[in-house]
Amino acid sequence: MRARDDAPMERRMIAAARRFLFFDPSSSSLLLCLLLSLLSANNGIVSAANAPLKFGINYGQIANNLPHPAQVSGLIRSLNANRVKLYDADPAVLTAFAGTGVEFTISNGDLLNMSDAGNARAWVAQNVQPFLPDTRITCVILGNEVLSGTDAAAMQSLLPAMQAVHQALVDLGLDGQVNVSTSQSVNVLASSYPPSAGAFREEVVQYMRPLLDFLAEVGSPFLINAYPFFAYKASPGSVSLPYVLFEPNPGAHDPGTNLTYDNMLYAQIDAVYAAMEAMGHKDIAVRISETGWPSAGDADEVGATVQNAATYNGNLMKRVAAGQGTPLRPDVPVDVLVFALFNENMKNGQASERNYGLFYPNGTSVYDLGFDAASFSPSPRASGFSSSSKPTMQMSFPVGVVVLLAAFLL
Ligand SMILES: *[C@@H]1O[C@H](CO)[C@@H](O)[C@H](O)[C@H]1NC(C)=O
Ligand SMILES: *[C@@H]1O[C@H](CO)[C@@H](O)[C@H](O)[C@H]1NC(C)=O
Ligand SMILES: *[C@@H]1O[C@H](CO)[C@@H](O)[C@H](O)[C@H]1NC(C)=O
Ligand SMILES: *[C@@H]1O[C@H](CO)[C@@H](O)[C@H](O)[C@H]1NC(C)=O
Repeated sequence: MRARDDAPMERRMIAAARRFLFFDPSSSSLLLCLLLSLLSANNGIVSAANAPLKFGINYGQIANNLPHPAQVSGLIRSLNANRVKLYDADPAVLTAFAGTGVEFTISNGDLLNMSDAGNARAWVAQNVQPFLPDTRITCVILGNEVLSGTDAAAMQSLLPAMQAVHQALVDLGLDGQVNVSTSQSVNVLASSYPPSAGAFREEVVQYMRPLLDFLAEVGSPFLINAYPFFAYKASPGSVSLPYVLFEPNPGAHDPGTNLTYDNMLYAQIDAVYAAMEAMGHKDIAVRISETGWPSAGDADEVGATVQNAATYNGNLMKRVAAGQGTPLRPDVPVDVLVFALFNENMKNGQASERNYGLFYPNGTSVYDLGFDAASFSPSPRASGFSSSSKPTMQMSFPVGVVVLLAAFLL
């Protein structure tokens, strides 16, 4: 116990926790949960509060086989993620993460309702205020990919809903702690290549202009969902796989800036910066509210493999942990929420939709990320990355507990 604040020990515990997580509804997993809670209580708060580099994950719940949020809390700590995004404001999750220091982005897609000041006030009073400050809710997202959709009423209500929720936060004295934003697909861009030619689609400009003015005024980031996988899947013959997977490649030259891009995600981010700048805004940060790669898909979904998913997410996390910025904004570390925590068995659409998870619902990782999550903890000597792979060992419960305890006591 003496070395509780010792970084190597923290790494050992996290690695051990990651290897032995499982979710059988038996008493043994309950004990394991207790142990994990202990680990979290002793380490996680410090990590989350001090970690300068933010790795986030989307916690989607369109499934009928997911573990209870209290168990998920341990799993997220094992990843060393310090930000989580929800597609709702599930009180069970927000309660389970009280005191963990994890930052939450919560969502409300009921734009018509939220554009009414009284409803917005009631919603914030019921879904945000009671959880603060124990659960750190730092952002509310209104609507998801509304401006690239077909619902005109939702498009028209988007900004009024954001304004009403922001006003409610102001009225309750919470606007300093909680941002209001919206997540949009990169499909709001008419052109994204070269990045310097980035421009919003003509039909979204009427919504985008006042939306950007609002984000700048209240100091909120603009959030985009970006999936280079879609570009690759659509044209596997012409899109370079190393370029979309952050693997070594010659890169793509932007003649408008003379910058070179070695991956598609950064090019997409910079295309959004260029599109905003063309509308007079150099004052809004771009963050990635969703990105990821499926580990499986239908026969016609080229590229949806375990190997590609592991490469995409593993390489992305290494870049995030290194605090890397994009070519256009080298000093602004790329800020990412990976999609997603679990495979979600009730999602509609092609098979890939149900296979974005880093974990199966039972807590077993779908693949080895080839990345030491402890790189995200604020250890002063951790400038390099462990290249040693971390095989996900399956061990019996007693062995797992013994190793956990050993890690805890060493
Ligand atoms: C509108 O929002 C309020 C506040 O959250 C809620 O009580 C009400 O049920 C919502 N109305 C509808 C029709 O969903
Ligand atoms: C709100 O967004 C701004 C701009 O990205 C950021 O600097 C600030 O830290 C955010 N606030 C919170 C509470 O996360
Ligand atoms: C890019 O580099 C070329 C060759 O050095 C130069 O002629 C051109 O002006 C540069 N363009 C920009 C936008 O800096
Ligand atoms: C977890 O689920 C996956 C996928 O169904 C399965 O392959 C794996 O064996 C399961 N792990 C455990 C420990 O049950």
